[in-house]
Amino acid sequence: MEFRHLGRSGLLVSEISYGNWITHGSQVEADQAIACVHAALDLGITTFDTADVYAGTRAEAVLGDALKGQRREGLEIFTKVYWPTGPGRNDRGLSRKHILESINGSLRRLQTDYVDLYQAHRFDYSTPLEETMQAFADVVRSGKALYIGVSEWKAEEIRAAHALARELHVQLVSNQPQYSALYRVIEAEVIPASEELGVGQIVWSPLGQGVLTGKYLPGQPPPAGSRATDEKSGANFISRLLKDDVLAAVQELKPLAEQAGLTMAQLGVAWVLQNPNVSSAIVGATRPEQLQDNVKASGVKLDAELLKRIDEVLAPVVVSDPALTTSPAQRP
Ligand SMILES: NC(=O)c1ccc[n+]([C@@H]2O[C@H](COP(=O)([O-])OP(=O)(O)OC[C@H]3O[C@@H](n4cnc5c(N)ncnc54)[C@H](OP(=O)(O)O)[C@@H]3O)[C@@H](O)[C@H]2O)c1
Repeated sequence: MEFRHLGRSGLLVSEISYGNWITHGSQVEADQAIACVHAALDLGITTFDTADVYAGTRAEAVLGDALKGQRREGLEIFTKVYWPTGPGRNDRGLSRKHILESINGSLRRLQTDYVDLYQAHRFDYSTPLEETMQAFADVVRSGKALYIGVSEWKAEEIRAAHALARELHVQLVSNQPQYSALYRVIEAEVIPASEELGVGQIVWSPLGQGVLTGKYLPGQPPPAGSRATDEKSGANFISRLLKDDVLAAVQELKPLAEQAGLTMAQLGVAWVLQNPNVSSAIVGATRPEQLQDNVKASGVKLDAELLKRIDEVLAPVVVSDPALTTSPAQRP
């Protein structure tokens, strides 16, 4: 496993990290979730991403159980705040009240005194940015988080937050956007702004939720046990990617992966890691074998000719409109 700095900070993170959205506390049983976390650790992954909202807060608890007994200094634990965690009108968003309450719940469930990175899971248009950043700064000053980050924020939102963070003497070091060979909306605006500010990307769904592994075939039912068959929540989230033209284009990557001596999953993860502004690719996995496959993308260099062929094959289906980086207009 290779390591990268998280943005322009001194924190090193594994360039492949493990996230537990949809899977832990929901799609997979606890023992399988724990087996995946232990496999991740054995394979050199030290960086773990979760959120207060995942599986109605259960995902953080599963991760906390799975990491119990590990040397805390050897781990980087990331969580997030914004989406609803309870029925109340203040159990959501980025108000001072919710941030200061939610971090305590996250730490309790994760069974740790601090998280390495605390992320605003979307922009909250109903809270002044100054209030949000002041609350994040207080979380850092109280020692409950070491660094702060955002997720799916627009370039100008990252700029404004970064300026406030500097005034408050805390480090806003990362953004967590969706990024994959199929979904490139951050390239035009978010990445140039981030490079300038020293903000690194921790990218989510680098495998397009499994689509880039090539296991979903056009015109065929999804494979048994895959996310597309998970009626609890996965099927809903992956459905927008399961279009025949996308699946057919992905099949055309198979000979390219073979020629490069990579599996499709390795090609997909390696593709996002070619971008130097990416600090880490957060993969999901429902089984340890998937992690064994995916981690081999660490350190892989894709040559210019292969990158060009990937662009040609995917060109008709790539999504790249920067306007797609959005947060809900209303607090959820
Ligand atoms: N900030 C945000 O708003 C946000 C949003 C979404 C996700 N995230 C973060 O990003 C993480 C990763 O997202 P993701 O799970 O969508 O990532 P992903 O890596 O694109 O997809 C992971 C899924 O693909 C399948 N898969 C993975 N490796 C495979 C392999 N080698 N062979 C075959 N199938 C494989 C597995 O699903 P099946 O086995 O079920 O098919 C796995 O759960 C999340 O856990 C979370 O931490 C953040």
